[in-house]
Amino acid sequence: MTSVVSTDSAPAPDVQLDDLDWWTRPAPERNAAFARFRAAEDLPFFPEQDLEGTPRGRGFHAVTRYADVVEVSKRPDEFCSGEGVNIFDQPPHLREFFGSFISMDNPEHARLRKIVARGFTAKNMEAMRDQVAATTREILTEVAGRGECDFVTEVAALLPLRVVDDLMGIPRSAEQFIFDKTNAVLGASDPEYVADQSPRGVATALMAAANEMAELLRELAAERIKSPQDDLISKLVAATTEENLTTEELASFFILLVGAGNETTRNAISHGLVALTQNPDQRRIWADDLAGVTPTAVEEIVRWASPVVHMRRTVTQDGVRLGDKEFREGDKVVLWYGSANRDESVFVDGDAFDVRRSPNPHIAFGAPGPHFCLGAHLARLEIGVAFQEILTALPDIEAAAEPEYLRSNFIHGIKHLPARFTPTAL
Ligand code: HEM
Repeated sequence: MTSVVSTDSAPAPDVQLDDLDWWTRPAPERNAAFARFRAAEDLPFFPEQDLEGTPRGRGFHAVTRYADVVEVSKRPDEFCSGEGVNIFDQPPHLREFFGSFISMDNPEHARLRKIVARGFTAKNMEAMRDQVAATTREILTEVAGRGECDFVTEVAALLPLRVVDDLMGIPRSAEQFIFDKTNAVLGASDPEYVADQSPRGVATALMAAANEMAELLRELAAERIKSPQDDLISKLVAATTEENLTTEELASFFILLVGAGNETTRNAISHGLVALTQNPDQRRIWADDLAGVTPTAVEEIVRWASPVVHMRRTVTQDGVRLGDKEFREGDKVVLWYGSANRDESVFVDGDAFDVRRSPNPHIAFGAPGPHFCLGAHLARLEIGVAFQEILTALPDIEAAAEPEYLRSNFIHGIKHLPARFTPTAL
């Protein structure tokens, strides 16, 4: 069904980064491949797969070195986001529907980002600390007596779900719905979430899930117009008149925030338990000084996990350069965050998990630039509080099997992770 053709002269690399099955391989194997790409003189070029029923893309250049990812992120006029942030191409209306301002350039990007940014400041997020701790304890209470659980679906996924739902004003009754729909949008390439993996089947499932989320938003927005609450949906509904936000833009905000807020933090927490299981010495260091070590441990989890695998940029004009490489207009340039975060020229022993790593200038939330993650403060708060509570309530919790990875080259996801611990009553 698939054939690949190169549109560039660079030699074909030994793995295909859009071969999604490769992404379910063990992490050390994937990390070793990226170490080879970083060491290569030229940027590796990857042809795109020829998927039945869709025009074949022109291929992409892989940016795997830290300094190069930083450089590209800082030059949005030459490497833009407006043509899409995924490798595959989507028509503009779908790109905006699924991606909102993450796949836009200025001035639209700045206008829309400003509207939601007020709700995500470090101060606003810090005010949520007690609530995040209470939500974590509530989740742990549900599993503590059993001595075992699926750490992803019963712990790591529930915290960001409940926190984002509370922030947005989504009722608890919609929790399972949001979990299923965000899985279908951001995990569409995995047969567990979308059974029909043909290009048409994936596209249909994506559209259906996004439309159902937009429908929920419309219902909630209609309620908030009648009786505003102290939540983000009420603020966004107010912005439709105050800032000329259209209802389509509002629906796309919702899909972006709910997806970005859930799928990333969940995976950071899940990878965190894998890391602590593989590194008992690091667990001891953290557990012995929870408050002192948490700030650096959180950064290390985010670096080590790099939950967002890539973002794409598109070259805006002929002659744009990155080092010795000269691009043509329309070239796709893909930023591989997990690779940049293990770059040996920046991180000593980057594969190692070191809860006291300092400095740790990782770029898992994106490198400095207009698209830097809006939810970074919230994610840091959630991950830190989650592990402080987990290591206090279930001090011997560990992964009981290998992680089951998501079949995706966009989200570094873990779908299931059996965990065990001494049963306790909380
Ligand atoms: C560990 C958790 C997270 C990671 C690793 C992460 C990572 C990222 C990355 C890599 C980008 C793109 C940066 C770029 O293109 O330059 C991004 C953008 C974004 N993230 Fe996050 N994110 C996380 C959590 C969150 C949370 C909790 C939210 C909100 C509830 C969120 C909302 C967003 C939004 C709205 C954008 C788009 C920003 C823009 O285009 O201006 N993220 N994130």
